[in-house]
Amino acid sequence: MNFDPFNELGGGSALRFDEGQFFSSIQDDYCLPVASHSPETERLDYIHDVYKYHAGNIPDEVAILLSDGRPRRILDVGCGTGRWALEMIEAFPNIHITGVDLAHPPITVFPPNFSFEIHDVTKGQEYEDDVFDVVHVRDIHAGMPDYHAMLTECVRVLRPGGYLLVKEIEWVPAVLDGSDAQERFPAICAILGSFRNALSERFLDPLVGVNLESYVDNVSGLCDVHYSRHMVPMTPWSDDPILNYTGQMTRLAMAILGGTMRIMLLDHGESDPDGRYAAGIEELRDLLGQPIWYFGSVVARKEGELSDPEPDAELEGYSQEMDEGKDETGWIRDED
Ligand SMILES: C[S@@+](CC[C@H](N)C(=O)[O-])C[C@H]1O[C@@H](n2cnc3c(N)ncnc32)[C@H](O)[C@@H]1O
Repeated sequence: MNFDPFNELGGGSALRFDEGQFFSSIQDDYCLPVASHSPETERLDYIHDVYKYHAGNIPDEVAILLSDGRPRRILDVGCGTGRWALEMIEAFPNIHITGVDLAHPPITVFPPNFSFEIHDVTKGQEYEDDVFDVVHVRDIHAGMPDYHAMLTECVRVLRPGGYLLVKEIEWVPAVLDGSDAQERFPAICAILGSFRNALSERFLDPLVGVNLESYVDNVSGLCDVHYSRHMVPMTPWSDDPILNYTGQMTRLAMAILGGTMRIMLLDHGESDPDGRYAAGIEELRDLLGQPIWYFGSVVARKEGELSDPEPDAELEGYSQEMDEGKDETGWIRDED
């Protein structure tokens, strides 16, 4: 059966189709295309660069922890394309990352220290208490009807003293000079407003990004909570090279986002989501208005002292395999 998740309604709440299955059979709540479907893969990779250039893949204190060469376990919840995990493994060969998602990432060659599980995390985490040194959660609110419960599970599986890293998009466009975005960019504001309503209709909080700090504050067992809010250009209007680049990445991602949201918007009752979205994209051609968006970022620790990891022959083996498996580019050889 050919089903295009960017263009067709799957019927009922079955909004996604991948590898021969409607995703409603696994989870009804996530209704965006899976990360392995182009162009969703490209959209997520563009936004990955935005997060990385504005806030880093990890904060300095976690980089220090992971640089001690000891075996560390990391959980990437809703790992999507796996891009974050692969970059982390490249930088820190001593770590092992477990990626969890509803669908397989678009990767054919896995480094030995990246394992992947298909699992619906609204059903909780499948791991024992106190297993991971770091838990990473990025941009998964569109599949989490109970974001608080998801965070609580993340804290349960963290080792005492381990780090919880969370980033979420705010879906509320603004203008750099503080003027009214609805006046300056009415079409983009309207279509994102519809998207927020479509999320609410599905009992998903469209403002997880806006309220990220209080979501994390309400989870027990955390300490040293640091929240930061990052402003990102929506178009390449800035002279600053980094902001210009992330503005370009955002505009490229925005060009794809209409397709990402199409099924949800149709299901929400929009009769012409493409037309409305195209009008929004048209507004982004103009660099003068300086549109911006924000994402929230939290770094927190689980209460307790992080003890040294037990010697872990499995993880140490991975590290050695990584070194042996690298080709001249430093990347893992594909045995095929
Ligand atoms: C917008 S993507 C972000 C992917 C990745 N974290 C990133 O930042 O590039 C959201 C991801 O969360 C996954 N996801 C959504 N709901 C989920 C659930 N209930 N259980 C596991 N993964 C879920 C989706 O399949 C998708 O890959």
